[in-house]
Order: sequence, then C-alpha cells, then structure tokens
Amino acid sequence: MHWSNRSRVLTVLCVKTSERQLSTTVLVIGTGGSGLRAAIELAEAGVDVLALGKRPKSDAHTSLAAGGINASLATMDPEDTWQQHAADTLKESYLLANPETVEVVTKGAARGIDDLERYGMPFAREEDGRISQRFFGAHTYRRTAFAGDYTGLEIQRTLINRAAQLQVPILDTVYVTRILVNDDGAVFGAYGFDLEDGTRYLIHADAVILAAGGHNRIWRRTSSRRDENTGDSFRLAVEAGGRLRDPELVQFHPSGIIEPENAAGTLISEAARGEGGILRNGLGERFMHKYDPERLELSTRDRVALACYTEIKEGRGTPNGGVWLDVSHLPREVIMTRLPRVYQTMLELQMLDITKEPIEIAPTAHYSMGGVWVRSSDHSTDVPGLYAIGEASSGLHGANRLGGNSLIELLVFGRIVGRAAAAYSAALPAQQRSAALVETARAEIAELLAASGTENVRALQRAIRDVMTEYAGVVRDEEGLRHGLAELDAIEARMADIGVHPDIAGYHDLAHAFDLKSAALAARATLEAALERRETRGCHNRSDYPDLDPELQVNLVWSPETGVVREQIPPIPDEIAALMREVSVVGKLVE
Ligand code: FUM
Repeated sequence: MHWSNRSRVLTVLCVKTSERQLSTTVLVIGTGGSGLRAAIELAEAGVDVLALGKRPKSDAHTSLAAGGINASLATMDPEDTWQQHAADTLKESYLLANPETVEVVTKGAARGIDDLERYGMPFAREEDGRISQRFFGAHTYRRTAFAGDYTGLEIQRTLINRAAQLQVPILDTVYVTRILVNDDGAVFGAYGFDLEDGTRYLIHADAVILAAGGHNRIWRRTSSRRDENTGDSFRLAVEAGGRLRDPELVQFHPSGIIEPENAAGTLISEAARGEGGILRNGLGERFMHKYDPERLELSTRDRVALACYTEIKEGRGTPNGGVWLDVSHLPREVIMTRLPRVYQTMLELQMLDITKEPIEIAPTAHYSMGGVWVRSSDHSTDVPGLYAIGEASSGLHGANRLGGNSLIELLVFGRIVGRAAAAYSAALPAQQRSAALVETARAEIAELLAASGTENVRALQRAIRDVMTEYAGVVRDEEGLRHGLAELDAIEARMADIGVHPDIAGYHDLAHAFDLKSAALAARATLEAALERRETRGCHNRSDYPDLDPELQVNLVWSPETGVVREQIPPIPDEIAALMREVSVVGKLVE
C-alpha cells in the first residue's frame, strides 16, 4: 500500500475490532476508467482523494473494453461534428437518452481524447500522424478512435500511470458494503472490508463518487467476468437514498462466444464487424439484409442482437445455438493489426484460427444503459455529496448504446464529476456523521459472518442469473416477467438462510454474499421496470407489445419505496434534431 505524504489520510488501526479508520476529501468507489479519471482530476487540482476497488486495478472491467472510443475528431471524415455525433446518439437511443447529457459528452469528447493523449495513450495512427478512426455500428462517420481491439486496456494502463504519477492512493482489495449518510441524508463516507484479511474499513469523506459498474453479470451469458458488474452500484446508491433510472434497458451485444461454458458470453468486439466481418446463419446465409438492408452488419447493436436471436429462435442457428461471425475473408494483416485480441482469444479458448474459420456467437448481456439516477450537468444524485459515473450512471444511452460511447463518457464525466465533488466539499461548512449508521454497517458484516445457514451463496447467484436469462433476455413478455418476479421472491426468501464461510484464501465468500444482495436488488428493479415498459423500443423487446408507444418516451425511475415512476425527458435542440436521419425499421421483431 502506498500513501502520498501530502495526503491527509489518517490511519488508525484498532486491533480489537480490526478496523481501520481513514479520512479523505473525496472517496472514489471503483478503479476502472471512470473512477481513475475522476481521481486524476481531483489529484491534479490538489484535492485529497482515495480510490477503492474490489479487484486489481490493472484488471478492472474497463480493461476488457475492446473496440474504441468516440469523438468527432474528423480525422478521417472531415464532415463530422459533435452535433452529428449527438444526433446519432439520440436517434439510436430511441429518444430515451437525455439530450443535455448527450450534448455534454459529444461536445466534450475531443477534450477527453486530448486528455488521454496528454497522459500518453498510444492511439492507432495514420501514416501522417493523425489519430485513426474506424466505423462502429450506426455512426454516420468514422469517429471511433482505437488501439487495436484492446482500447480499454490501453486506456486503463494510461490512467493507472497518470494516477501513479500523481500518487493517488488506491486500495484495490477493499469491498465497500455501504455508503454512509448522516441524519440529513448527506454522505459522510463509506464502510467496507479487506478481501484478503477481513480488516474493516471506516472511511470518512465529504463526497463519494460511485464508479462501480453496472449489473450485466446477473445474466447467465454475459461479457462480464465472475464477480464484476454484479449490481453493487445500484444497491449502494439505493440503500443510501438514491434511485435508479431505466434499469430494464440492458444492452445485449450481438457477439458473445458460446463455448467453453465457463467463458460463455466473452465478447467478440464490434470491431470485427467494423472491419468488414459478416454474419451468417446455420444454413450459411448472410441474413442482415432482412433486418437492416441499409446498414447490414453495421446496424445498431439492438437490431443486430435481435436479428441473431431471431435466426436462432426460428431454427436457422448453428449446432450450438448461435450464428456465425466470419472475418476469414479479411486480409490476415488486417486481422493481426486491427483484431489481435479476438485472434488471441479464439485461439486460447477454442483453438480456433479466425483467419481461416468463422466464430460461433450469440447475444450476450453487455452493458447497463440505465443506472443510478443522476443530474445531467454534473452527475450528482438525489443524495447530497454522492455522484455516480460510468456504467453505474444513466442518461447517455437510452434504449440503445452506440459502441464506443461508454469509453468517452468516462473521460468526459470523469473530469466533470471530479470537479463537482471538489466544489461540493469546498462549500461544505462541516461534515456531519451518524454513529448509528456506522454501527449498522458494522453489524451488517458481523451478522453475515455469523450466518451458518444451508443455502449456498453461489447457487443463489446462479438462480438469479437463470431467472434473468429466462425471463428478461433479448425478448420479454408480461407472463415471463411476472414469473421472474415470483421466482425472485422465492430466491430472496432463501437468502435469509445463507451460510458465509471465509477461508484461508480470504473474505471472498463475504463479498459474494453482498454481491448476492446487489444482484437481487438489481434484478427486482430490472423486472419491475421491464414490466412497466409495455412497448418495444431499442434493446427492450416485448413480444406482447411489439410496437413503440409514444406515451412511453419517458425514463422509468425506480426505488423500493416508489416502485416505477415515469420521468419526462428534456426536448432535443432543433439544431440536433435536424441532423437525425430516419432509418428503415424493416425487420424489427420477427417473432
Ligand atoms: O464491441 C466492442 O468493442 C464493444 C465496445 C463497446 O461496448 O463500446
């Protein structure tokens, strides 16, 4: 553990309780791209910051992001503008994205890329030094900058290096169990424990930035690995008094691998289609012309995912229930330089040479487009002093996220949220705390550690993933969603009888128990909101309501107290609306 000398972090080791008390100005929960970017902004401004993560920072989920990061740099297509980027984002969100959030991100995107360049990011470049930009699905122009097909990994490395230069303290074995709020409902820190030795952490902070990802690991086939994106941000925010927006809007990426079972869902980057990859069904037929004759494989993710799903459902799938993604016609050189990770992944996982053979794929749960309710200007939440960012947050993507828009959001809002949290702290006259809530947080851990019931935490996590896969996948209906809720009730009842067994390897089983609580809350929010969205829009396909309902051009905001409440979306500025092109909707829900 490295502590900056100038940090005013105070460490008190209480041997009896094995609890460390730390104090900082801004606490960041999550050490992926968004958390690190916010921490860098704070450190550059001389503000004390501490970042916590539950997995090694070099292996945070951002490192998996593959294909690229969007900004209308116009390096390849001089006609591109931030306004067109905004128009594409809003159009493809099926009008559920918040136009103010979209404007902040698309206008600020070039600055986000500049920041990365300043920190040393090795972008792919053209021979004359321009940053290369590739096509990603449904963008009007080439605006996706990249580093091979491991862009997220390079971004993560770049941000880690910059954070290290600034001596940002990072504890990446600490699991946060609760955000602490005082009697006025304002944040004063967080509570957690060390995953390796169980030491408790009581951390006092003026402001907390929640950057702990989304909830797509609660589906069985997912591009998230074990124990990441388990809905932690959702639970932490809701228990602190926050709300969720559009939890039902989950992006299913068209191309997740099918085998081996323990890696099912692993992503094959959209870059494969961006570079010219072709989709074929089990009969060898190229099928995207039936679903989006104009854009074919470069259609939006929701439509490509639904097309793959439909081919499989209607009996035209591959032997393992997928479709083929073929890049074998591309020059070997293109594959090796532009898709090196896909090449390596397929060799490692299946001994498959993609320069010669097609890849068997099927839709995979990939991204939470909804998340914690935040204000569009600064991503502050309902809870004073609490901010949410990245996949934990909401507002940018609506019912369909354009590939490459999530990475740029991290850069743009990382900077904004860092500044907002610092300003909030500077204006705080005093930090009020609640001893009672600290006791609650301590007791919660103690109770779970004493739990010796017969229900297995991993088995219950699996049960939730089964429910979500069965009833809240690419296509949903009322009957299934109600079944899902009933099954979730039963799983929650079983959760009262879990056993938690830390062992010589550490306190991971305790973490799994909290992950399970998060998964249950995220699943409930998703099912309830999916039930209320009685229409088909973007990623949300209701076979019992196959049409888009103009009345439902609203966000759905959820909390345990209120259930689902409708929220109006601000109007789209005329300048942007004028750039939104109509695209044929032939071949929507075929089922
Ligand atoms: O397919 C991909 O490379 C994923 C990119 C993204 O989700 O933005």
